[in-house]
Order: sequence, then structure tokens, then C-alpha cells
Amino acid sequence: MKYSNVTDGIFRLSAHIHDLLFEGMWPLPHGMSMNSYIVQGKEIAIIDGVCGWDGVPETLFRQFEERGLSVQNIRYVVLNHMEPDHTGWLVPLKQITRGFELVATPKALRLAKFFFGLDESFCTLHPVKSGDRIDLGKGKVLRFEEIPNVHWPETMATYEESSRTLFPCDAFGSFGAIREEAPFDDQLSESELAFFEEEAVRYFANIVAAFSGPVKKALEKIDSLDIRVLAPGHGIVWRKNPARIVELYRRLAEWSTAPTEPEITLLWAGTEPSMGPLVKAAVDGAHGEGVPIHVHKVPDTHISYILPSVLRSSGVILGIPYSSDPLPSPLAHALDDLGRKRMTGRKFFWFLQGKGLEPEGEQRSETLEEEIERILEKYQMRWEALESAHIPRHTEEIVYQQTRALAMELVARGVINGHVQELVHTT
Ligand code: FEO
Repeated sequence: MKYSNVTDGIFRLSAHIHDLLFEGMWPLPHGMSMNSYIVQGKEIAIIDGVCGWDGVPETLFRQFEERGLSVQNIRYVVLNHMEPDHTGWLVPLKQITRGFELVATPKALRLAKFFFGLDESFCTLHPVKSGDRIDLGKGKVLRFEEIPNVHWPETMATYEESSRTLFPCDAFGSFGAIREEAPFDDQLSESELAFFEEEAVRYFANIVAAFSGPVKKALEKIDSLDIRVLAPGHGIVWRKNPARIVELYRRLAEWSTAPTEPEITLLWAGTEPSMGPLVKAAVDGAHGEGVPIHVHKVPDTHISYILPSVLRSSGVILGIPYSSDPLPSPLAHALDDLGRKRMTGRKFFWFLQGKGLEPEGEQRSETLEEEIERILEKYQMRWEALESAHIPRHTEEIVYQQTRALAMELVARGVINGHVQELVHTT
């Protein structure tokens, strides 16, 4: 864990994690960073913290000493968000110091008491709401803005007025561990920035997508702020071009409910020998129309990667093998996860290996269709089946033609809908 100067009087501490599943479920092949920030006026505030990884809390406290500060000198502990990756350090903190002011929304203060036993016996509880300010002295003023349900109910953002720095915690964050010698966007190459943007898409799809409505409301609030530096709880700090990550998040929040990119995600299960020709036919069909297609075999591909794929795709195809289970559980689980993350408004069709080749095939198709509809309705996904989807047989030629038809619809929708085109061209 090391610190860096963000801007005058504001310092960043960061802890990194590797080789574990974030939130117990999301793979981190490129690691992940948790950022904590010190704002130093006459008084010292620390905004968000980190969990007990990367040698924390000892490394965090050592960074204070290297700055010539003492943990005992912290006057304000600001909690934008209560999830343990940002608050895990509070238990060791309360063992070595007390008397600080715990600044958070009333909901967060209740959670702090419930999670960590932080109450009036350890600290002063300082509830804040949108528009409240704390003057730290020497020109540093913190202002608070509630952004509930991004992605927990108690969430807020903190804005330092003199430097125009926004600390939004999870919002505008990404997976991917930062290099300690280069934590700022102005230090990174275009390919490195693109890497963090891709990791931001996966982070958004995995963690935040289900809350795209609250994200849009948060963006409306944030639009009223003059932001010179954007300092999230995960990933790099944006101080050259913070609008870049804000605009990406704006697109992602839109993508969750469509319209999205004229691209297709194909999810399929089964074995390569039996399903391979049908999958290839779909790929050929998409390419025939010049439409990108992202192919994922389930359960081989982790849902963490399927979610961002579907997030950006306005078309989805389900490739279903002939089996005793009409909708094999890996596909059912994937569809269920897409519903939980509110991936709504897609155009889709499914194909079934062997459909039309057996006497009882029609019954199998009906059962399968009912199962898919049940999941779509459960999560109110509003997926629209391709008009030509209800056909008696699913041969390679038919899958090819259906995929072409889907691709043509997506392209036509993209051409007609200037909004989609604008999004595509600003990517
Ligand atoms: Fe980074 Fe929702 O915690």
C-alpha cells in the first residue's frame, strides 16, 4: 500500500488484491485496487477506507506516518458507502483511536453500528444529507450528495469544493489493479486507459448494472458539479479527462435497458461435436451482415464475462442442446443472472439441436419456450423474440438465416435510431 499526491492537500492511499473472487464471486485476473483518500485542511478527513487486504490496516497507518500524520489526528472519517471493501479497516481503527467524527448518511451510520459496533462510545456520529458541508479549514470544504442505491441504499458522494474533486466511491470505478507509479489518467497510455475502460465495463455489468436507474439519477446530480478530478474507490484517478469515465458510465447505464450496440451475444451449452456446426452457422450469419458476435459456452465462461457481453449487445441467441432437461441448467442460470442484473429490452431467438427431427419434438419446444418465458417474465426483461423464431426445424441453414435476420434488424434499428449511432461513434 502506497500513497500519492492527487492534488494540493489531497492524497490517495491504495490497497491491491489478487487471487481472490471479489465479493466472493467475481474473478480478478488483473487484480483490483481499493482507494482511500486523505483531505488535509486545518483538520484531516479520510474518505472511505479499505478492507483487511494487502497488509491493511498496518500499511494504511504506516502511510499516515510517511505523510507526517498520525491516525490519532483524524478528525473526520467519511463513509460514502458501507460495503466491507471500503469499511473493513474500521475495526482496527477503533482499536487504536476514538473521538473522531463519523460522517455518513443516517442509513450508513446505522449500518456502521450494526457491522462494526461503531457508536457514540467510540466516536461522534455526524449524519449528513445532500448539500451539507464541512469546512476543514485552509480552504478545504467537503460537500455531500446522496446517491442512494449506487449500489447500496446508504451511498453518497463527497465533493471537495476548492479542488473540485469528486469522491464517488464505487461509481466510476473499475476492476484491474493500478500501477502504484502511475495511478492517474494523465500518466497512462491510450491502451492502458482502454484496459481500465474495459475493466470498468465488466465492473459495471457485474456490480452496478442492476441499479442503472439510480445511476442515471446520480449522474443528473453529478452533472451539476464542476469536476476537475474524479477520485473513485476503485481503479485509476481521473484528473486529465474525468468526463471520459463519466460519459462511459452514462452509456453503460443506458445499455442496461437498451438501445445498445448492434452486436450479438450467443450463449450455448452442450458439446462441441453436437453443437459446433449450429454455433458456426450463427457466427457465419452474423459475420455475413458485418455484425460482431460474442460467443460464450456455458458454464465454461464465467458469468462475470457474459454480463458485459450482453450489456453491450442488443441481440442475444441461446443455443440449446438436445438433453433430458429442456433448458439445461447452465443456460437457465445464465438467463436468470441476466435477469437479476436487469439486462432488459434485447432482441433474441433460440435454436434447439435436433428440433423437428423427432415425433415428440413439438412438445419439447413448447416446454423449452415456456421455461424461457418464465424467466423473462420473472425479471420483466422485455426480450422480444425474432419474428421468424417459431419455425419447425433448426438446421444449420435455418440458424444461419435466422442470425442474419437478427443481425439485419439490429443494424436497421441502429441506423434508424440516431441515439445508438451517436453512442457507437463516441466509443
Ligand atoms: Fe467497492 Fe460496493 O464496494
